[in-house]
Amino acid sequence: MVVLECKNIYKSYPIRKNFFGKIIEELPVLKGVSLKIEKGKSVGILGDSGSGKTTLAKILLDLERPDSGDVLYKGVSIYGMKKKEYKVYRLNVQAVFQNPYNSLNPRMKVIDIVLEGLKINFKLDKEIIREKVLESIRQCGLPDSVLDLYPHQLSGGQRQRVAIARTIVLKPEVIIADEPTSALDVSVQSQIINLFLELQEIFSISYLFISHNPAVVDALCDYVCEMDQGKLKDVLSCR
Ligand SMILES: Nc1ncnc2c1ncn2[C@@H]1O[C@H](COP(=O)(O)OP(=O)(O)OP(=O)(O)O)[C@@H](O)[C@H]1O
Ligand SMILES: [Mg+2]
Repeated sequence: MVVLECKNIYKSYPIRKNFFGKIIEELPVLKGVSLKIEKGKSVGILGDSGSGKTTLAKILLDLERPDSGDVLYKGVSIYGMKKKEYKVYRLNVQAVFQNPYNSLNPRMKVIDIVLEGLKINFKLDKEIIREKVLESIRQCGLPDSVLDLYPHQLSGGQRQRVAIARTIVLKPEVIIADEPTSALDVSVQSQIINLFLELQEIFSISYLFISHNPAVVDALCDYVCEMDQGKLKDVLSCR
C-alpha cells in the first residue's frame, strides 16, 4: 500500500524581484518529481547539495507548497482534504531534522518536548500522557532521568533520540528524516541508524531518508534514488 506519494512536483523560488516586488527571476528547484512511499518501506534520497532534497521533504510535509503537482496521503490529495482528514495526515507524517539542537526548544524540558504533540492532538489524561512519553523515551534508548532535563544538558545523540521520541509518541506511519545523522559523531550515527531500524521493526513505519552519505542510505533503505538538479533518478540499489 502506498502511504505517501507525490506526483509531478514543480517548484521554483523567486531569486530576483523588481522595484515593485514583481518576480523577475526564478530558480527552478524541482522539475517534475514523483515518488511513492509504501507502508513499512524505506526510501532513500541521495544527491548533491542544492539539488532539491530538502525542498521535496518540505513539500511532502506540507511546510511548502509546490507550483504544480500533487501530494497524496493514502490516495487523497492533501490540498483538497477536509480539516479532519488533513489532521490525520499531519499526525501520521512526521519529521526528524538534521540538527536536533535547533529543532528542540531549549527552554522546554524533555518531558514537555515529547508530550507536546500528544497534548495538541489528543484529549488524554495526564497520567496516560506521562506513560506514553515514558514508553517512547525508553523505546528510543533513553533513561527515564532525561525527562526533567533541558536539551543543552543532553549529548548530540541523546538530543536526536529525543527528537525521534517526540515523533514516535504520535505513532506516525511515515517519518521524513532530512540528514538525521549528519550532525552527529560517526560512532553515534550508527547507533541512531540502528534505532531507526529497531523502531521500524516495532511499528512498521515508512521512512524517507535524505542523506549525503550512501552508506547511511544503504543501511536503512529498501529503495534508493538520487536527486539530480531537481529531478529524481531511478532506484540505485536495494537492501
Ligand atoms: N526559501 C528559499 N528561497 C529561495 N531559494 C531557496 C529556498 N529554499 C531553498 N532554496 C534553493 O533551492 C535549492 C535547493 O535547496 P534544498 O535545500 O532543497 O537543497 P538540498 O538538496 O536539500 O541541499 P543540501 O544537501 O545542501 O541540504 C538551492 O539552490 C537553494 O538555495
Ligand atoms: Mg537539505
